[in-house]
Amino acid sequence: MKLIYLGHSAFYIESGDFKALIDPFIQGNPQCPFELDDFPQLSHILVTHGHADHIGDTVALAQKTGALVVCNHELGHYFQGQGLKNVHTMHIGGRFDRFKMTPAWHGSSVEIDGKLYDGGTPAGFLIDLDGIKIYHAGDTGLTMEMQLLQSEKIDYALLPIGSNYTMDWPDVLRAVEMIQPKTLIPMHYNTFEAIKVDFDQLAIPEKLNMKMLRPGETLDL
Ligand code: NI
Ligand code: MN
Repeated sequence: MKLIYLGHSAFYIESGDFKALIDPFIQGNPQCPFELDDFPQLSHILVTHGHADHIGDTVALAQKTGALVVCNHELGHYFQGQGLKNVHTMHIGGRFDRFKMTPAWHGSSVEIDGKLYDGGTPAGFLIDLDGIKIYHAGDTGLTMEMQLLQSEKIDYALLPIGSNYTMDWPDVLRAVEMIQPKTLIPMHYNTFEAIKVDFDQLAIPEKLNMKMLRPGETLDL
């Protein structure tokens, strides 16, 4: 089992035949060292919300690989309009297969011909990777709902830390307190100027179990 960081909020996770991308922002992602052809086989593509840096290359990759796209209802409708046939929609609180959709406090929209349309409620995903629990928060500020995740006994919490669009560093620490994951993996930072993070300026508690992944780095789970 492995997890690969693609930069920004994009991750690849694999366990046997389960080969999934989350928020596959590959082309146009200045951090991403991969190309679409590096993912010839995908079983699933999870999309947390409708923003270009999260929808990313979902349509092209799903068309190429036949991967099942998992997302909220409105995004599912959008993807079907883009020609995708293999779409599964779900919503917050629901479980499907290895996934549970979790709340995120953010926006969600899709662009069609230069106009913005509703992209449904933004979300995160809790993924059960054969006993290892990975929580990808999507884009979100700190929410009290995160307390509910503590009972899930999460191994890896992938949290946005870049501030501006999502939680700032003090709130990341509060989120970790609430969720109590074994390991924090930061995401959604340094991709753009607005979410630049200077780690020397952050108060990082000694007890914080944080695993920084370089874009392209693989973590064996
Ligand atoms: Ni967003
Ligand atoms: Mn984003």
